[in-house]
Amino acid sequence: MEKVRLGNSALLVSPLVVGCWSFGGDSKSYWGEQNQADVDALVAEGLDRNINFFDTAVGYNDGNSELSLGKALGKRRAEAVICDKVQIQPADRLGQDYETMVGDALKRLNTDYIDLLMIHWPTPDESLLRANLEALLGLRRKGMIREIGVSNFSLKTLEIARETGVQVIADEFAFNLISRGPERELLPYCEKNHIGFLAYMPLMQGVLAGKYETIADIPPMRRRTIHYAKNGNPYSGHGADGADAEVETVLRELRALSAATGLPCGTLSVAWLCQKPAVAGVIAGCRTVEQLRENAAAVETTLPPEILKALDDLSKPLFDKLGDYLDLWKKPEESRIW
Ligand SMILES: NC(=O)c1ccc[n+]([C@@H]2O[C@H](COP(=O)([O-])OP(=O)(O)OC[C@H]3O[C@@H](n4cnc5c(N)ncnc54)[C@H](OP(=O)(O)O)[C@@H]3O)[C@@H](O)[C@H]2O)c1
Repeated sequence: MEKVRLGNSALLVSPLVVGCWSFGGDSKSYWGEQNQADVDALVAEGLDRNINFFDTAVGYNDGNSELSLGKALGKRRAEAVICDKVQIQPADRLGQDYETMVGDALKRLNTDYIDLLMIHWPTPDESLLRANLEALLGLRRKGMIREIGVSNFSLKTLEIARETGVQVIADEFAFNLISRGPERELLPYCEKNHIGFLAYMPLMQGVLAGKYETIADIPPMRRRTIHYAKNGNPYSGHGADGADAEVETVLRELRALSAATGLPCGTLSVAWLCQKPAVAGVIAGCRTVEQLRENAAAVETTLPPEILKALDDLSKPLFDKLGDYLDLWKKPEESRIW
């Protein structure tokens, strides 16, 4: 896979980013049990195909995602670009304690540097946000991390980062055919400011891969976002009516376009994302070699303008209904993104 330069940094990365949230999972984890042999095989195959970008977080499976990725990379660590994410630390945990936390992550990853470290979610406390961003600068000076990024940061929080003097090279954000909130403002901002936009949840957790016939077939944990009515779903926390009818329409029309073009639904969805300006990569959760291959083929597919337009058009009524809303899991007044 041909690599791209991430933001203004020297990092050369594959536009397919391997999402490692499932790695190290057991039966109680969000994604259930994840076989290490599958992780070893897909990481090795990724590296063989020049797919070198891996996205994990301290919080994924209590550090077991980092551990599993570190094991799978083994002696090939230098070929990889690792993106890791940390949660905002309270004021009394900045400084030495921050170093301990990232030091522990390095041990789990079996490496002595992290290529790209991100703040996973912003805090509403502006001064704490600034202090955390500044703490990352300290880690960079010590050589523990190479570059700084953010995740779930919108315009205002990106501006705050800029004011602190932190050069953010990438912003990781939920973006897919049925979640187009970042498109009108955030994408142009990232493009203008040379921030690599990394789209996470490109398959809407399997929904856009054509896995489910109806919304009722989607497991409750995967349909807790603002797209779907609560309908007794105990995991749903957004409190809104959802847009089930519009989502069903998108999925039906996506299947029809897939039949007409001969391209799988997941390929259409991922290729559409990759052709949006500012999108440097898509972070697709890959659990097996087969999923990695399919997602790699999708990233390498170039769609002609008429198919891109058909995808824009078929998802527009849903986009209009959901608007520019960004935190897909929360009520607007409880949004963690600002
Ligand atoms: N920064 C953040 O706040 C944040 C939040 C969420 C995710 N992320 C990152 O983004 C990554 C991707 O997000 P995500 O995993 O939530 O969603 P996703 O990439 O849209 O969906 C991934 C899931 O879909 C299924 N899948 C993957 N490839 C497939 C294919 N080709 N055909 C059919 N099914 C396929 C797999 O699950 P099954 O095989 O079990 O169906 C996989 O776990 C995560 O791993 C994580 O690294 C970041």
